[in-house]
Amino acid sequence: MGDTGAMERCAFPAAVLLLSLVLMGATAFEVEIKDDKNATCIYAKLSVNITVQYETNTSSSKNITFPVPSDVTTNGSSCGSDGKAPLLVINFGNSQSWSLNFTRNNSTYSGSALIFTYNTNDTILFPDALRKGLISSTAMFLGPVPLNSTYKCISREVVVSENVTQIIYDVKLEAFMANGTLGKEIICDADKPSPVPSPTQPSTTASTAIPAPTSKPLDKPTMGNYTVSDASGICLLASMGLQINTSLLSEGKNIWRPFNIDPLGIKTNGTCTNQTGTLILTENRTIIEFTFALKNKNHFYLEEVNITLINGSAFSSRQNQNLSTWEASVDSSYMCHKEQQIKVSEDLFINAFDVRVQPFGVNNGTFATAQQCSLDDDSIVIPIVVGATLAGLIVIIVIAYLIGRRKGYSGYQTL
Ligand SMILES: *[C@@H]1O[C@H](CO)[C@@H](O)[C@H](O)[C@H]1NC(C)=O
Ligand SMILES: *[C@@H]1O[C@H](CO)[C@@H](O)[C@H](O)[C@H]1NC(C)=O
Ligand SMILES: *[C@@H]1O[C@H](CO)[C@@H](O)[C@H](O)[C@H]1NC(C)=O
Ligand SMILES: *[C@@H]1O[C@H](CO)[C@@H](O)[C@H](O)[C@H]1NC(C)=O
Ligand SMILES: *[C@@H]1O[C@H](CO)[C@@H](O)[C@H](O)[C@H]1NC(C)=O
Ligand SMILES: *[C@@H]1O[C@H](CO)[C@@H](O)[C@H](O)[C@H]1NC(C)=O
Ligand SMILES: *[C@@H]1O[C@H](CO)[C@@H](O)[C@H](O)[C@H]1NC(C)=O
Ligand SMILES: *[C@@H]1O[C@H](CO)[C@@H](O)[C@H](O)[C@H]1NC(C)=O
Ligand SMILES: *[C@@H]1O[C@H](CO)[C@@H](O)[C@H](O)[C@H]1NC(C)=O
Ligand SMILES: *[C@@H]1O[C@H](CO)[C@@H](O)[C@H](O)[C@H]1NC(C)=O
Ligand SMILES: *[C@@H]1O[C@H](CO)[C@@H](O)[C@H](O)[C@H]1NC(C)=O
Ligand SMILES: *[C@@H]1O[C@H](CO)[C@@H](O)[C@H](O)[C@H]1NC(C)=O
Repeated sequence: MGDTGAMERCAFPAAVLLLSLVLMGATAFEVEIKDDKNATCIYAKLSVNITVQYETNTSSSKNITFPVPSDVTTNGSSCGSDGKAPLLVINFGNSQSWSLNFTRNNSTYSGSALIFTYNTNDTILFPDALRKGLISSTAMFLGPVPLNSTYKCISREVVVSENVTQIIYDVKLEAFMANGTLGKEIICDADKPSPVPSPTQPSTTASTAIPAPTSKPLDKPTMGNYTVSDASGICLLASMGLQINTSLLSEGKNIWRPFNIDPLGIKTNGTCTNQTGTLILTENRTIIEFTFALKNKNHFYLEEVNITLINGSAFSSRQNQNLSTWEASVDSSYMCHKEQQIKVSEDLFINAFDVRVQPFGVNNGTFATAQQCSLDDDSIVIPIVVGATLAGLIVIIVIAYLIGRRKGYSGYQTL
């Protein structure tokens, strides 16, 4: 960009700098910050390209772009203690520094302040700067990430602050690491494949056949274990992974956006009575309510699902009070490993994975014997499918043969 001046005025060092950049190829730095027990508390591997706009001694303004090199030190970093936030400091070049401190709550951590401090005394990067000395610029980086997981993002994120633009990409980062080991990777939204628009909606009248709203580009959701208690202890047990697939969030554009429910962010409550059991899962932007009922006194089933999506101050609710699924006998639990799609409305589906529920008769907080869903039972389903297909084929062949014979006769007769 604007670094031609640098090359003219200071050709040799600039050439060395450029050469070293070329030799290093993709520049990325990788660092670990350790606590006094030698356990890693912050791990970071990322690439940052920085553009600084500065005033030159000819009173014009100029932009220079440079990457944070792979050769960095971490002096000044700390794991945090006594209410002090953990701090990652990356020093490079001639007193340039890039620092990020972190904050956490019970379930997530995030970046607090990203401060880039540049030294315009550096005659290689800022040969003609008007103001000499250290200048800091503060921005925000890193939204909430579940604790004990590693944030991973290959896509570029552009972070802008006064006079400084940073492109941050190829990030792998974890703070507040438990036990000095990296947790499981969480992929940023930008890296997730974009949802595919659904085919046109089926007419509401002929909607008994469940349409496939979208291909599923998401990972399988994380399993959550949920319990509801009453005065006598745990009365409802559920474990499952949940994914919502909806076109409600696309502001009338009919684009299906699946997203996973993260059990870490869920607050659970609900009620148990002799006749019904409800499980309410509440998250920042989603409230899901499952209502179970009894059928013939000795079977339970999922009768109703209510779901509310909160988007800022706006929200939409959808419900289906007419379900008849997840059925099992009252003295057992219902279990299904296969993914199941529950249609809540034309514009909202729930995909449930590895479901196990017991809304009645829970003893000692543990599941009773499982009644497996028929979907899971491949040993029965496959022979039935194969058998039915074969029978169908035979019928078709016989009919084709009969028609062929009759056509043959009449054809010859009319000629
Ligand atoms: C921490 O680890 C380094 C090398 O990994 C080792 O040299 C050092 O002695 C260790 N310190 C403690 C306190 O264990
Ligand atoms: C960052 O800068 C390096 C070297 O200047 C360049 O190779 C790379 O393509 C840049 N990356 C992005 C995402 O702009
Ligand atoms: C940003 O740049 C402008 C013009 O180059 C300058 O007046 C201003 O002081 C700079 N701001 C900071 C925070 O350096
Ligand atoms: C420097 O970058 C800023 C922001 O990206 C842009 O507005 C400005 O025009 C650039 N200046 C020069 C001299 O390229
Ligand atoms: C991070 O650093 C900024 C600037 O020093 C400070 O304002 C902020 O309070 C720090 N965050 C935490 C969580 O300590
Ligand atoms: C974090 O958990 C503790 C106890 O586990 C609780 O007292 C506190 O209110 C929680 N804080 C937040 C912000 O949820
Ligand atoms: C993170 O891991 C630590 C140690 O394994 C554990 O004590 C803590 O409860 C975990 N936190 C969360 C939110 O999973
Ligand atoms: C920058 O240079 C000025 C004099 O040219 C000096 O007073 C100042 O201490 C230097 N600052 C840094 C951070 O090197
Ligand atoms: C912590 O690390 C030790 C040794 O690496 C391991 O035995 C232990 O299970 C780990 N604890 C947790 C909670 O991950
Ligand atoms: C949920 O419960 C099952 C069985 O008790 C257990 O294996 C699993 O680790 C639990 N999962 C979570 C996320 O707590
Ligand atoms: C469930 O939680 C919500 C919000 O925290 C609360 O208003 C409601 O009373 C709770 N319901 C039960 C049955 O505890
Ligand atoms: C529910 O069951 C308990 C114990 O089985 C019984 O005492 C109570 O009367 C029942 N309540 C209703 C409304 O059926």
